[in-house]
Amino acid sequence: MSAEIVDLHSHVLPGVDDGARDLAEALSALKALQEQGVQKVIATPHFRASLLERRSRADARLALFDEAYDELTEALAESDLEIALGRACEFKLDAPVADLSDPRLRLEGGPAVLVEFGSFQLPPFAGNQLKAVVDAGWLPVLAHPERYFGIETAFDRVARWVADGTALQVNARSLAGGYGSAPRQIAAELLARGWVTCVASDYHAMGVPEWPPALTLLQSAVAPVSSAGDEPVESGEEWIRQLVSENPRRLISGEPGKPVEGRSVDLGVAGSSRGRRRR
Ligand SMILES: [Fe+2]
Repeated sequence: MSAEIVDLHSHVLPGVDDGARDLAEALSALKALQEQGVQKVIATPHFRASLLERRSRADARLALFDEAYDELTEALAESDLEIALGRACEFKLDAPVADLSDPRLRLEGGPAVLVEFGSFQLPPFAGNQLKAVVDAGWLPVLAHPERYFGIETAFDRVARWVADGTALQVNARSLAGGYGSAPRQIAAELLARGWVTCVASDYHAMGVPEWPPALTLLQSAVAPVSSAGDEPVESGEEWIRQLVSENPRRLISGEPGKPVEGRSVDLGVAGSSRGRRRR
């Protein structure tokens, strides 16, 4: 199938975080994403909310992103690659009040913002922080919930976050088994509960983006285990398209993702991947 992937989480800007180290790596990363079926990718370099406590530091970091984005955009235009590039940040909620008024912090300047918590630990007031983002008028998209320690014992909290307006983004690499079996099983459980809005790569320009094994796993999904909305989605292909194409596109354009039916995937179909990778 042609999934027409829209990938809203990646670290492909050159030299700004733990992703692509220079322009050559950034272009190779874009090529790798394109070869795996990605039509559009959003560069989401790491940015900490606490930086905004000293505006000059935040401005300096955002200026660094501006420069890297301009450099990569120009090089992409001169290359024979066809992948489209957009920008945002992966916004770490390490401060209680998140000022997201700068459009560069949000997905292509719209209301959606990709957020994470530090060190793969869920802070006790994670729900309050996500709710504060919603209450400020933004649309939080929580990156890789399956990777937080102990989240499998906190599904009641996750249910509230989703009900309060947080979208969940699972990593393709989690589905591929690249972080081990626990994140993979948790990702599958989140999918089965119908809580996942979209899948993205979180590609750090190292190894491969792991879209094919993730799609293979999604293709193993059987009939819906829970319905979403009034019109059940009959086809598995349509279900995958919602997760990897339609909902990311909607979030980028500022609309909430469509509810996605819960479906069980077969964890036996895509083996664990190995190799040297960052994060
Ligand atoms: Fe990331």
